Amino acid sequence: MSWASGSIDVMRVSVVGLGYVGLTVAAVLASKGFRVTGIDVDRERVSAVSSGRCPIHEPGLDRLVRRSVSKGTLAATTDYGAVRETSVTFVTVGTPSNPDGSIDLRYVREACRSIGEALRGKSDSHLVVVKSTVVPGTTGKVVVPTLESSSGKRVGEGLFVCVNPEFLREGSAVRDMLEPDRIVLGDAGDGSSDLLLELYGRLYRRRMSPVLKTNYVNAELIKYANNVFLAARVSLINEFANLCQLIPGADVKVVAEGLGLDERIGPHFLRAGIGFGGSCFPKDIRAIVALSRELGHDPRITRAVYEVNELQPSVVVRTAEELLGDLRGKRVAVLGLAFKPNTDDVRESPALKLVRLFAERGSEVRAYDPAAGENARRELGDTAEVVGSVEECLEGADLCVLATEWGQFRSLRPEDFASLMREPALIDGRRVYDPKEFSGKVRFRAIGLGPADG
Ligand SMILES: NC(=O)c1ccc[n+]([C@@H]2O[C@H](COP(=O)([O-])OP(=O)(O)OC[C@H]3O[C@@H](n4cnc5c(N)ncnc54)[C@H](O)[C@@H]3O)[C@@H](O)[C@H]2O)c1
Repeated sequence: MSWASGSIDVMRVSVVGLGYVGLTVAAVLASKGFRVTGIDVDRERVSAVSSGRCPIHEPGLDRLVRRSVSKGTLAATTDYGAVRETSVTFVTVGTPSNPDGSIDLRYVREACRSIGEALRGKSDSHLVVVKSTVVPGTTGKVVVPTLESSSGKRVGEGLFVCVNPEFLREGSAVRDMLEPDRIVLGDAGDGSSDLLLELYGRLYRRRMSPVLKTNYVNAELIKYANNVFLAARVSLINEFANLCQLIPGADVKVVAEGLGLDERIGPHFLRAGIGFGGSCFPKDIRAIVALSRELGHDPRITRAVYEVNELQPSVVVRTAEELLGDLRGKRVAVLGLAFKPNTDDVRESPALKLVRLFAERGSEVRAYDPAAGENARRELGDTAEVVGSVEECLEGADLCVLATEWGQFRSLRPEDFASLMREPALIDGRRVYDPKEFSGKVRFRAIGLGPADG
């Protein structure tokens, strides 16, 4: 390997793209004494972080940002010149979908061009780490050529590129970054992974996670295989949930519990519900399906995982029609709008799909979320009224649907629904309520719960 020895200081880091992933990476590293500069094109975001404020809802992140900024280990800027003052740059910009489902690499290209320009003429070695989720082939065919042409350097000679997919989950991003299950590293055979390992060695010290070293494409593929696999578990259990709803006495929660006890299967990602959403699973599935097709391969299972998920919110609407008949003019309360609890992220949230489906049926929808109200309001416009409390949401409603399982909603009792709603009917879309407790007191249905036995 051709590191200019002694010229690289892994403690000096820049992070390009201060979203859910980038800000978490930046703040966690800064909290452990790394000197980190975050770079983003979004001025509002940069100014928030610069003044020690966290622009997103992520448990524990606000504290890390505040402390690191005040200690001087974390700074934020829109100026790519900051890259030059560091030795390692993480690329954490978004990789959304094009209208045809394929991956939109525009932000990756722009970020790499700007990083390369900043590195032009820099004499010390520099490591660029691709953390954004990119389809196999992207690092070799897009990232490396873009960096080389804009920096005037050759990869392997003073410029090093490593793929390091991120597996953190929104809602527990800080913890996941501090305790990853494993670290996947892909390089071009020039040993650049070892440098990133040096950085992680300083971050994790003796609590280092298992490491898998490979080439670019395998590292890129692992991230997609991971997400498709997890999404497949969700769609599979949802398929069983839908079957359970047709069988007297059946309950998918019990089925999932039994399934999860099989050591070969395990208990994770077996919670039936209204479907998966968020900024990763749906767009990563679309991207890998589009790439597969481009390569002449039909990924049948992956397509089915997506299709089952697309249909899942409509199961709730069907259940609502069974309960109330025609939904026109009915007041529907939706509890939860974020795609999962403990985040304000509403990207591709199944709760929003649900709101739209009810609105299409002519229902009057009121919705509430403890953190995502503002983001949801922007997405929904006047499709629904987004209110500021559970009480306002339930007041006078004919039906309530629990769409996101925030802790605050788990503690609601049948009396809370009965006292506020006009017709207390409840559909538990996330299986948090005990059917025995609720069934006698409100008209109760739940995803994956069959009709009462006998
Ligand atoms: N969100 C997750 O839970 C998660 C988990 C694992 C992996 N990922 C992957 O990580 C990547 C980032 O995801 P995210 O959810 O953090 O995205 P995000 O949309 O929250 O943040 C992306 C940030 O990049 C910034 N940006 C865009 N173009 C830029 C440029 N040219 N220069 C500087 N900044 C720029 C945006 O302003 C934004 O702040 C994606 O590829 C995603 O698939 C996300």
